[in-house]
Amino acid sequence: MANLFLTPQKIVTGEEALSFSKDIIKTFGNKALIVTDDIMVKLGNVKRLTDSLNEIGISYVVYSDINSEPCDYMIEKGAELYNTSDCDFLIAIGGGSPMDAMKAVAVVTAIGGNINDYMGKIITTELPPMCAIPTTAGTGSEATQFTIINNTTENIKMLLKGPSLMVNLAVIDPIFTITAPAAVTAATGLDALCHAVEAYTSVKSFSMSDTMAVSAIKRIFDSKLGLYECYSNGKNTEARANMATAAIEAGMAFNNSSVTIIHGMSRPIGALYHVPHGLSNAMLLDKCLRFAVSGCPEKFCQLAKEIGVYKEGMSIEEGADRFIESVSLLCKKLEIQTPAEFGIDKDDFISKTVKMATDAISSGSPANTRRNPSKEDIIEIYKALFENN
Ligand SMILES: NC(=O)c1ccc[n+]([C@@H]2O[C@H](COP(=O)([O-])OP(=O)(O)OC[C@H]3O[C@@H](n4cnc5c(N)ncnc54)[C@H](O)[C@@H]3O)[C@@H](O)[C@H]2O)c1
Ligand SMILES: [Fe+2]
Repeated sequence: MANLFLTPQKIVTGEEALSFSKDIIKTFGNKALIVTDDIMVKLGNVKRLTDSLNEIGISYVVYSDINSEPCDYMIEKGAELYNTSDCDFLIAIGGGSPMDAMKAVAVVTAIGGNINDYMGKIITTELPPMCAIPTTAGTGSEATQFTIINNTTENIKMLLKGPSLMVNLAVIDPIFTITAPAAVTAATGLDALCHAVEAYTSVKSFSMSDTMAVSAIKRIFDSKLGLYECYSNGKNTEARANMATAAIEAGMAFNNSSVTIIHGMSRPIGALYHVPHGLSNAMLLDKCLRFAVSGCPEKFCQLAKEIGVYKEGMSIEEGADRFIESVSLLCKKLEIQTPAEFGIDKDDFISKTVKMATDAISSGSPANTRRNPSKEDIIEIYKALFENN
């Protein structure tokens, strides 16, 4: 069977990546809409970018209102600013939220209407040039054909997709992730782990997506330069660079394969309880992998071999179990909160499990799991998140 492998048009990685990218950015247009958040402005990251644009004579207008995961009304405002300011291309600097917001703004400026109209449609219209500069390692949005926007009327996180949402340039400079606080580092790094594990164990996985997924997983579990090192010693630039690479590899993996049960179940929690995306994935990791493992124990066992926790003589099932134990141990070391610790009320959560399971299934992601969950299975997993609480 043939498979298409989509990537961003250009990827620049490593120290000084932004400076290296100036000549490419210059070809994109005359005036950029910079999509970002207030923290990026305060940290001086936006100034770093605007200094570079000044050097190459590119005008810009800064839209820094993406101060939470992006919602429909933020997209409307960004599109209006783009049009009234005569911008002709876009740059996002920040985590997944500004990057996703940039893609959605580009869609509305190019095609019109409201972003909520695009749910369920494949976006193929040509969009203005887009450049993504991630500051978390992370979502991989810089390498995906997806944008996730909150529809505030329906209280759902919409997964919008289409090849036109691939950016023209991804700038992966580890300098931008150094300042990420420990909790953000942990949640976003586990988001990348979910992307890679889900992509690898999806029914849509194939050789190229597997290569990216395995490489990302090995980087995340690297004992010297992996996620735990970034969490406990955020100033380690080598570790930050390793995780930034893991994030884009994991992004490329799931972009071309798919996510599965974890992301499918995570989006409804994010939409209803405003749990940051990486954290809601992390809350589900152990329970979802334990459900999914019997669909492809040999693939989970292979991952145990890749990260070096498989021991000679173990059965496939024991190897698979070792991998899941390693994931759960990492979550513990990263002090991932349970839903109760995050402050979600158990009774309220339980009362919403049917809606959440319905929304999870209708996103299509759970059906990509090699053990396809029923609605009842999903409800049981949601309920199990409150076991012992
Ligand atoms: N498009 C995709 O393929 C895709 C994939 C996964 C997730 N997402 C989406 O991405 C969004 C989440 O993105 P995220 O997890 O990167 O978080 P985020 O962009 O919401 O950022 C989280 C917080 O960390 C801060 N932050 C980011 N980088 C920082 C840095 N270097 N230093 C200090 N603070 C920093 C931000 O200002 C913000 O307060 C969600 O909406 C999720 O649905 C998209
Ligand atoms: Fe994700």
